[in-house]
Amino acid sequence: MCGIIGYIGNKEAQPIILNGLKRLEYRGYDSCGAATYLERKNSLSVRKLPGKVKDLENLLHKKPLSGSLGIGHCRWATHGAPNQVNSHPHLDCKGEIALVHNGIIENYAKLKNELIKDKHIFLSQTDTEVIVHLIEKFYRGCSLEEAVRKAVTKLEGSFAIAVISRREPGKLVGARMGSPLVVGVGKEENFLASDVPALLDLAQEIIFLEENEIAVLTTDKVTLTNLAGETVKRAPSRINWDVAQAQKQGWPHFMLKEINEQPAILEGLLNSRIDKDSGEISFEALKIPVEKLAKTSNIVIVACGTAYHAGLCGKYILEELCSIPVSVDVSSEFRYRNPLLAENALVIAISQSGETADTLAAVREAKKKEALVLAICNVLGSSLARESDGVIYTHAGPEIGVASTKAYTAQLMILYLLALYLTGLKKTLSEDKRSAYLSELKRIPRLQEAFLKKQGLVRGIARKHSHFGSFLFLGRNINYPLALEGALKLKEISYIPAEGYAAGEMKHGPIALIDEYRAVVCITPASRIYEKMISNIQEIHSRRGKIIAIASDDDDKIKELTRETIFIPRADEFFSPLLVALPLQLLAYHIAVKRDCDVDQPRNLAKSVTVE
Ligand code: AGP
Repeated sequence: MCGIIGYIGNKEAQPIILNGLKRLEYRGYDSCGAATYLERKNSLSVRKLPGKVKDLENLLHKKPLSGSLGIGHCRWATHGAPNQVNSHPHLDCKGEIALVHNGIIENYAKLKNELIKDKHIFLSQTDTEVIVHLIEKFYRGCSLEEAVRKAVTKLEGSFAIAVISRREPGKLVGARMGSPLVVGVGKEENFLASDVPALLDLAQEIIFLEENEIAVLTTDKVTLTNLAGETVKRAPSRINWDVAQAQKQGWPHFMLKEINEQPAILEGLLNSRIDKDSGEISFEALKIPVEKLAKTSNIVIVACGTAYHAGLCGKYILEELCSIPVSVDVSSEFRYRNPLLAENALVIAISQSGETADTLAAVREAKKKEALVLAICNVLGSSLARESDGVIYTHAGPEIGVASTKAYTAQLMILYLLALYLTGLKKTLSEDKRSAYLSELKRIPRLQEAFLKKQGLVRGIARKHSHFGSFLFLGRNINYPLALEGALKLKEISYIPAEGYAAGEMKHGPIALIDEYRAVVCITPASRIYEKMISNIQEIHSRRGKIIAIASDDDDKIKELTRETIFIPRADEFFSPLLVALPLQLLAYHIAVKRDCDVDQPRNLAKSVTVE
């Protein structure tokens, strides 16, 4: 949940670290810091503080850090409050080693007691400080790399670290034990970072560290070793992400930019996955043999948050098209029960980051039970992508806003494409029907574009309702998961309590909430069960609930029930989630902006939840 950056080369480290931290800030933003090695004084200097990277930038403006070896960190506090002392980097007793850390050390209390007995002096409440003192303890008559190796073997938990020492100022050492860490390979400079976006304009070649690997970076060399000290050879991968994708490019927030990127992303997915001539669907890193996939008897989807909501839609999509039973589990529940997985079960793990601790744990659980695991993931080379048997990338580009938007609709699009692909293997759909579905799916990006041209209207409705103390979101059938997603979007960025419900459940309890103080978002696109939604709306109307409807263009009936209607282009109801998602995202966005909330970095959250 924290961001790590490290630099070694011939340039000044400070601006590179600051820039990297700005790109990594979505990972954690309650405190931050940096340390560099100053050759002139043969010493390490540290600047850190509670607050955001812009606060660190101001501090560094007044008290700059010199040197061309350095590390930086942005924090999402786990152990110890977000204050100056607990911020990273942390130093050993002699101020000889500086370290930044992402993850959790589970046995830190025991180690801390032992180290205190050995006269190590601790300043913070963090688990991190244990690591730097442990390295100090082992840093006798050996290299920094060796001391790091000895230290990490004593640690339990999941973590990644970057370390520098004034005794070896030509080295930057990183280690990956369960949390992501990548090496950026440059010309006469090398970089460490928790995530690729931090390095986009610095290094096009990336080496993804594997579990239990240690990287030693010098200005012109990168060496990887395992815990036994054996050298590991790995060729760097080229990254196609564009630096502009990780910048706001004039948009007021990443979230709004990312909402508006959706038509282009979905168009890109359709073009790259469907052969223009044959209409065949293919996935570049699927890797799972077709014969195995064809045998799939049931599907279990595991995911968290928004990705879980994509998974819930996936149930409707896959069951409808492939006639395969699908169950959907929140990863944190799946991992702690005893899930029953049939012999030919396929587990689909969905995650934007590919680093979500619970989803990774669920995948490990599934693999223990010998299930086949397919990841749907956005981040290339992420832990999930590497640990699964096959992966389908969502290619949504870097998603920086903490609220997931474009990754969500890209996940939905992949689920539609996967289902259509499986129909080919399972022969559950006639050719005609399959191509009719495909043609309808191909219209979606243009329909999204048409909707986004009129997005200003959502702003008006959002502003009018931003004072409501609570919201209810209702949907049915394939749009029921959209009600859950709409509520999640609103609560996470505007802090307004919001609940998503299957509209058919209204009378079983939630209707008691309805009065003139309740805003109710009713997802009502043209569909087989349209009239059922209209009945729900009437019931809310008679109880004076404030209705905001999301309906298909030219729906005159709904106009009689509420003036607050957001119209979306008409499409086959089966694909309507790809359209409904947009007004829900925009509604949450504009309400949050009106309430002066920090849209891209909502309180208490972080982009990738790499701890339980
Ligand atoms: C989405 O808006 C959330 N911030 C969050 O629910 C997120 O979807 C969840 O943490 C899962 O993340 P992942 O897709 O990276 O696994």
